[in-house]
Amino acid sequence: MFKVNDNYQKLPGSYLFSTVGRKTNAFMAAHPEKKIIRLSIGDVTQPIAPAIIEAMHRAVDEMGKAETFHGYAPELGYEFLRSAIAKQDYRARGCQIEEDEIFVSDGAKSDSANIQELFAAENRIAVCDPVYPVYVDSNVMAGRTGVYDPSTERWSNVIYMPCVMENGFVPQLPEETPDLIYLCLPNNPTGTTIKKHQLQEWVDYANRTGAVIIYDAAYEAYISQEDVAHSIYECDGAKTCAIELKSFSKNAGFTGLRLGYAVVPKELKCGEVSLNAMWARRHGTKFNGAPYIVQRAGEAVYSEEGRAQLKKQVAYYMENAAVIREGLKAAGYTVFGGVDAPYIWMKTPGNMTSWEFFDELLEHANVVGTPGSGFGPSGEGYFRLTAFGSHENTRAALERIKSM
Ligand code: MLT
Repeated sequence: MFKVNDNYQKLPGSYLFSTVGRKTNAFMAAHPEKKIIRLSIGDVTQPIAPAIIEAMHRAVDEMGKAETFHGYAPELGYEFLRSAIAKQDYRARGCQIEEDEIFVSDGAKSDSANIQELFAAENRIAVCDPVYPVYVDSNVMAGRTGVYDPSTERWSNVIYMPCVMENGFVPQLPEETPDLIYLCLPNNPTGTTIKKHQLQEWVDYANRTGAVIIYDAAYEAYISQEDVAHSIYECDGAKTCAIELKSFSKNAGFTGLRLGYAVVPKELKCGEVSLNAMWARRHGTKFNGAPYIVQRAGEAVYSEEGRAQLKKQVAYYMENAAVIREGLKAAGYTVFGGVDAPYIWMKTPGNMTSWEFFDELLEHANVVGTPGSGFGPSGEGYFRLTAFGSHENTRAALERIKSM
């Protein structure tokens, strides 16, 4: 008789955004006349930029001719894309990242869930609290997190680094020593970030203690302040302790196209064992490459035209962020984030729990957001709104919230 992976049975509830979706659908079924505005999951709404669409059209035509047809993509990604990434995302910023340290994938969500496979089951992870749920859930599935305590909503073998109003949402170096440290900066869900000198402290700490930092930089394009690092490799010594994950979803609207990459530096080793070689081996076995058409689309992100168009798209969403931030403040709410990230993190009013406020907002403003407690126990009493809506919907949502 077969046996299942029991670790899956340990997962409490369903995936956060599935629960939000289910509750929203139930409300819509009960109130079909209401016009719901969704500012919950961080899904983009603006169309793919013209330079990228043109590149995809060209790639589609190539696929229709025997001479230019492409079958399986190279395991690590096409050279044309990896060299554009190395040049523009790294060397242009003074980071010495080589093409063979870049692994093109179908998105940062998959990478952030899969990367833990490189590490032994007894490794102890540290996560910010609140946190993007994928980091913890993927480690639960792998059996690395110990026992779940429903009363504290915490796993016995996970080190939590609370990021709350009182510490300015800045994760503090943990007292117990972790083996793997997940950092997402600019942060999802709080929409806040840390300065480069603070990130350097994490890099020094990881090198000192022999930990690896899994650095999720999905929201890098939204950084507006000068002294914030766009890549962890801007910090001295990061190549011996950090893996960086990047997404094309948020900076270029690829949530439906799917493209991302991981940087695993060759210097990152456990004794003589190279993590770069391990990830290459894993990619070779488990992944057949992102589609050629999508990788050509990715290349166009780095073209002059593409960059100019995407700068405007990011500015469009950041205009929404300002509308939400300022609108909520004017309505008397306590608000964070939205300066270097497309998320606004607010305190729920009074003593409302995150889910109570979710219901209140859905019921009275017909606006869907994300309850902070869904991201971890320290998210209780907070609520997240995304800036990825259209201008019209964002403004309408704010008007509704103000008049609640
Ligand atoms: C979010 O809303 O937190 C993100 O969109 C989820 C994701 O990127 O997978």
